Amino acid sequence: MEKILNGRALADKLQDKLKQEVSEWEKQGKRLPKLVVILVGEDVGSQVYVRNKERAAKKIGFHSQVDRLPETTTEEELLQLVETYNKDEEVDGILVQLPLPKHIDEEKVILTIDSKKDVDGFHPLNMGKLFIGQPDKLPCTPYGIIELLKEYNIEMEGKHAVVIGRSNIVGKPMAQMLLMENATVTITHARTTNLKELTKQADIIVIAIGKAEFLTADYIKEGAVVVDVGMNRHADGHLVGDVKFDEVSQKASFITPVPGGVGPMTISMLMEQTVSNRRAD
Ligand code: GUN
Repeated sequence: MEKILNGRALADKLQDKLKQEVSEWEKQGKRLPKLVVILVGEDVGSQVYVRNKERAAKKIGFHSQVDRLPETTTEEELLQLVETYNKDEEVDGILVQLPLPKHIDEEKVILTIDSKKDVDGFHPLNMGKLFIGQPDKLPCTPYGIIELLKEYNIEMEGKHAVVIGRSNIVGKPMAQMLLMENATVTITHARTTNLKELTKQADIIVIAIGKAEFLTADYIKEGAVVVDVGMNRHADGHLVGDVKFDEVSQKASFITPVPGGVGPMTISMLMEQTVSNRRAD
């Protein structure tokens, strides 16, 4: 009875719209949007994410540049590079892929990115705006999830949403965005003692903990909406989420698949926020 929340399909639709908009600008001889992605080191997951971002930017038809820097890059060198792009008027969006090598202070790097070019929505100014209910740039994963829920007309107002995971990238902003949609929100995390009690009450569950197939059918009530942010490698190499899809999908009313759910939406929102900066110029 479950319905798939097809992130891939919505992401393609959104990217096609952006492509049309950008091609209009091209015909008019306008400067095209430009996204700079900075990848430091050899993190395997990050390399995959960056390649997907590069591919989407190309497909939409705007300039994208990926700076691949060695693991040995110093914090000072990275900060200077970010400053260069802050000043470059041709650059609409700057994204520094996380995680960074241990000798580089991530907070410092994020704080250095011009908040207007922070298409990831991680800058404390953008986070602060979100948390006082005046959103500007939004973290792309929770933003994409809200758009996906809206696409399928899933009611959030008055519903009990349980967010599992409290990261700055997903859990915390997700909770805040659900709150802005007038959901009643519970945030749970590794130290929560009564997780199952809470998730069994949830109308909407968003899980982002990076534990393969953690959420089993006994955690959810009949008809819940389940959103899976996890991307984990199974022992045999295939990609699995944080949700045990086969059994949870039997009980859920709507569920995101992995892959093809949240991931493509994250990329679309990144592209949207980059194009939106160019639009505002
Ligand atoms: N690492 C994992 N997810 C993300 C993301 O959305 N943006 C950046 N910059 N790094 C990440």
